[in-house]
Amino acid sequence: MSRHFLLLSSFLFTLASALYTPAVHSRDITYSTAPIPPSKDPWYTAPPNFEDAAPGTILRLRVAPGNIPSVIANCSQAYHLLYRTTNALYQPSWAMTTLYVPLSASNSSSTASALLSYQIPYNSADVDASPSYAFSAGSQTGDLPNALGRGWYVNFPDFEGPLAAFGAGIQEGHAVLDSVRAVLSSGFGLSPDTRYAMWGYSGGSVASTWAAELQGQYAPELNFSGMAIGGIVPNFTTTLGLLSGTVYAGLLPSALLGITAEFPESREYLLSKLKTNGAYNATGFLESLELSFEEGFIFYQYQDIFNYFVDGPATVQSPLIQDLLNIQAQQGYHGIPQMPVYVYKAIHDELSPVSVADALVERYCGVGVNILYERNTVGSHLDEDYNGDARAFAWLASVLDGTYAQQYSVRGCTIENVTVGVWNATAI
Ligand SMILES: *[C@@H]1O[C@H](CO)[C@@H](O)[C@H](O)[C@H]1NC(C)=O
Ligand SMILES: *[C@@H]1O[C@H](CO)[C@@H](O)[C@H](O)[C@H]1NC(C)=O
Ligand SMILES: *[C@@H]1O[C@H](CO)[C@@H](O)[C@H](O)[C@H]1NC(C)=O
Ligand SMILES: *[C@@H]1O[C@H](CO)[C@@H](O)[C@H](O)[C@H]1NC(C)=O
Ligand SMILES: *[C@@H]1O[C@H](CO)[C@@H](O)[C@H](O)[C@H]1NC(C)=O
Ligand SMILES: *[C@@H]1O[C@H](CO)[C@@H](O)[C@H](O)[C@H]1NC(C)=O
Ligand SMILES: *[C@@H]1O[C@H](CO)[C@@H](O)[C@H](O)[C@H]1NC(C)=O
Repeated sequence: MSRHFLLLSSFLFTLASALYTPAVHSRDITYSTAPIPPSKDPWYTAPPNFEDAAPGTILRLRVAPGNIPSVIANCSQAYHLLYRTTNALYQPSWAMTTLYVPLSASNSSSTASALLSYQIPYNSADVDASPSYAFSAGSQTGDLPNALGRGWYVNFPDFEGPLAAFGAGIQEGHAVLDSVRAVLSSGFGLSPDTRYAMWGYSGGSVASTWAAELQGQYAPELNFSGMAIGGIVPNFTTTLGLLSGTVYAGLLPSALLGITAEFPESREYLLSKLKTNGAYNATGFLESLELSFEEGFIFYQYQDIFNYFVDGPATVQSPLIQDLLNIQAQQGYHGIPQMPVYVYKAIHDELSPVSVADALVERYCGVGVNILYERNTVGSHLDEDYNGDARAFAWLASVLDGTYAQQYSVRGCTIENVTVGVWNATAI
């Protein structure tokens, strides 16, 4: 397979010069051919001295492989941007994002003015499940052509970073914020006046919410117009305690491997507690490192995951793991979202109880965050992804088009029970 990788070392800027410098011109960019998994693609590495670049600096840029405009309606081009970020240990790191440019942007008469940062819930400890590879052609992202059709640019960051640190909130939030910095500075028609918003469901809500909490301290120059989050999971510890033995059991190995990915001592501890023989041994547990969310869903469903450990649930309850969950996976403690927020949640969400969502909303409302929170009397966790989709899209359209104040309350919190049953998996 021929490889035509683009290594634009000129995109390695130093410190302050990077931000908001429209530095990328389409004539400088060459095309790569077929997509290669990140674990095998040398493009997914940081250039030397990347640590010296400011967070959000573009380190590498290429046209996304796979001729995306031929696959995604309303897309004129898609780019891969590798950028400097900060990991879960607050150390310099890098991540990758895919930027989809709308067809209308090629129209010199139109003024591009909106960017949607959509955090895909990839929920995997396998770097090859990263959206820039696994979702680059837009599978499972039904709203992408529609968003592009509205003239929005769309950003899909690989927010778990190069070690696929699923569930490590500090890593995920930083990577989302720096992806937005990177795409805003990339040129392609986006400008500092662009309105931008975040959207995420479930695992994507986790990355989005962490970005919103960290933004005031980490990226104070950013000014998001809003954030829509659905199926929220404010307390990972609660959720992890509900997974073993269920259809979602596969999320438990991927979360434990993800949250320890950047913490060698905790990872080593986790591995030291795995059984070495029997039906539930280390080999089966570590298979999770090679599986996407969907594959892991099938591989582990209904398994008692604690069977993999010599001391059962005690490993997860140990201080080494609990400390990580407390620091990296509890929302409501790192900062206050400084943007309007739309929250949608099924009252019968079985993956994260609605009471935990209620508590986070109440916490934010207590410090004046402007929130519309809709609790749906219908449906499960997965159902609400569909049931809430149109309402989230309409809300995002209002913040991105500048009509929010005409349509929604701009101060305080509005909490409502709604009954919206577009989709009910149980009935299928
Ligand atoms: C470009 O703008 C013209 C004039 O406003 C319009 O007729 C045309 O449909 C636009 N093309 C795209 C691709 O948006
Ligand atoms: C592409 O955008 C147009 C609006 O410009 C929209 O009507 C159409 O549905 C979009 N295509 C798809 C496949 O979503
Ligand atoms: C942020 O953007 C909004 C419009 O979306 C504007 O009203 C507000 O003044 C901006 N805030 C800052 C700090 O720039
Ligand atoms: C998170 O959930 C766990 C288990 O339900 C609970 O013990 C803990 O107090 C919760 N943490 C926060 C910050 O609410
Ligand atoms: C470990 O588990 C795998 C299944 O995941 C099995 O094929 C293998 O035989 C087991 N190894 C031992 C030593 O029991
Ligand atoms: C889903 O549909 C089934 C069958 O019509 C119904 O029994 C169930 O109550 C519905 N579930 C929810 C949460 O609305
Ligand atoms: C929504 O429903 C819950 C029961 O799930 C009820 O306790 C609450 O009062 C209702 N809230 C509103 C705003 O109607």
